[in-house]
Amino acid sequence: MQLLLSNRREVPIPRELFGLFFEDINYAADGGLYAEMIENRSFEFFDCGGDRGDYYAVPDYGYAWSPLPGRQAGKMEYVTGSPVAPKNPHYLRFTASCSGQGFFNRAYRGIFLEKGKQYRVSFYARMASFSGDLSVSVQKEGRIFAQAQVRGIHAPEGTWQKWNRYETVLTAKEDAKNAVFAIVLDGPGTVEFDFVSMMPQDALAGIFRRDLVELLKELKPGFLRFPGGCIVEGNTLENRYRWKESVGRPEGRRANFNRWALHETSAQNGWHSPYSHYNQTLGLGFYEYFLLCELIGASPLPVLNVGLACQFQSFELVETDDPAFGEFVQDALDLVEFANGTPDTFWGGVRARMGHPAPFGLTMVGIGNEQWQTQESDFFGRYEAFEKAIHEKYPEIRLIGSAGPDVTTGRHTMAWEFYRKKAGEKKNFCYAVDEHYYMEPEWFFAHTDFYDRYPRDVKVFSGEYAAHPQKGMNNPKANSLEGALAEAAFLTGVERNSDVVVLASYAPLFARDGYTQWSPDLIWFDEKSAYGTPSYWVQKLYAQNRGDWTLALSGQEKALAQEGIYVSASLDETTGEAILKIVNRNPQKKRLEIKTEDRNGQNAVPERTVRIQELAGQPEDYNCIHEPGRVKVKERTQEFDGGIDLPAHSFLVARIRLF
Ligand code: AHR
Repeated sequence: MQLLLSNRREVPIPRELFGLFFEDINYAADGGLYAEMIENRSFEFFDCGGDRGDYYAVPDYGYAWSPLPGRQAGKMEYVTGSPVAPKNPHYLRFTASCSGQGFFNRAYRGIFLEKGKQYRVSFYARMASFSGDLSVSVQKEGRIFAQAQVRGIHAPEGTWQKWNRYETVLTAKEDAKNAVFAIVLDGPGTVEFDFVSMMPQDALAGIFRRDLVELLKELKPGFLRFPGGCIVEGNTLENRYRWKESVGRPEGRRANFNRWALHETSAQNGWHSPYSHYNQTLGLGFYEYFLLCELIGASPLPVLNVGLACQFQSFELVETDDPAFGEFVQDALDLVEFANGTPDTFWGGVRARMGHPAPFGLTMVGIGNEQWQTQESDFFGRYEAFEKAIHEKYPEIRLIGSAGPDVTTGRHTMAWEFYRKKAGEKKNFCYAVDEHYYMEPEWFFAHTDFYDRYPRDVKVFSGEYAAHPQKGMNNPKANSLEGALAEAAFLTGVERNSDVVVLASYAPLFARDGYTQWSPDLIWFDEKSAYGTPSYWVQKLYAQNRGDWTLALSGQEKALAQEGIYVSASLDETTGEAILKIVNRNPQKKRLEIKTEDRNGQNAVPERTVRIQELAGQPEDYNCIHEPGRVKVKERTQEFDGGIDLPAHSFLVARIRLF
């Protein structure tokens, strides 16, 4: 097999092309990227169940909290009356009948501490009838791993309703696994508690799990789409994501149950999934998403609800002629002001007071998540209303439309007909249309030419894609090398067509081991560590070797695809290297002879060294928390000998200095 590597530039590859899609699914936010270690910190959790059209959320304010065991346990009551923040009205009223009684938080699968590391604890307490000290600790079966004393501030008689905020730092004396977080009173009495928090001191910006952010940074993301996904829509409109409730001080952000608490409920599980207590504190809110974009160098791409609850899960909607629909449109306008407005505007002022007077530089907004047109939903009418209002005020904002949940049905065709027709009438009607496809690996291998014939008038946002060799909850095996190779092959076509596909993101991004509603996922983690799947390595190789221009292949890729070899070529202008991305899906190793041409179309002799990064193994290989590096990239530099050896089942990036 042979490839003639041309130096003819075809299309520029956008800086933003390879990005990220973040959704709070699989405990990606609370219990994940948001470094809060306490579960149900403000005593507002719900236990959810039900089926399409009949979802319910039962208050379970004491979820994850229990009295410490002992001969006599203290009394736990979840009350309301005068809370720290009215939006989160419940709190714990704890009564100890003697010294040493206390309560604990189970903190997901338990607290993990690393010896020597520090953890910042804070909580609100009101000494209803108690005068003494509180002991804060991480412990397991009576063994203390970290501890600090907090002196209770006893408010003067008649002012007992005053909440005080307490802070202390715990230093781990030794490693702890599956431990609990506890607060103990040193005498009898009643104390009320709210908003109990524990964060690692090394959390980035004080709130992001450092190891997870590092993994994101390595993907050099061009953009970050947030906060979903289906949680934008909610199973019900009541449950939808409201960005305005996610800003301001965290104590005042109204907690909400998570739409993924209701995934795969069925008669077999009594319409109640193992994740029925999956809730959202919104500690990771829109301000934090914008901050995260800055931290990882990604363009922000927030997605907004258009007055539709999840079209798979509900029929609920707000009609476009209902005055309530105006609030959804207003949310979009206010979001642009929140991100970009000067501090003297209302929403720009909210941002500035939160600590960011400079604008966040928002340039893109997603109109709806995974919406499609039906007579009832009238998604197109909704898109038009948003477009008109946003572009009247902010003509420079790039809007993202939706082509629905797949690329194989009439929903997709209808969407494209709509956007293309409208694009002919109005120039910036839609910047890119968001397409979603979760398919078997074979589909990806067979569709590397998917975008070759797409009209170029409206761009594509390949917003959610992943090869699914297997599915299922909590299934790290679903992230096999086979799936990753299929994605790598497909991305050769995306890169080659990056004049029309301008944004692309794998989905979902994160999965907490044992708390996962959807597999496969890009990055898995537990309370102590995280790893990249084979798909992660593919994304990383693409992003770190993006190139500035595609180089012409002139149809050679089609013949090679017949042989199970998938290729793209690009040029790194800074280094002058040609970047070849090559997938060999065959069970045998192959060799690809490389011929090169110089500027005059003559054969050029490449510099002698080739830098190669390679991902290879068996199709069913996968990484897991106990063996995170089974499939990973190996690097080598070798003499160029006229060709490249391709191991069986491999994806390889070769950098060759040509000219
Ligand atoms: O990525 C998981 C889900 O897939 C997203 O929430 C939704 O947009 C799609 O259906």
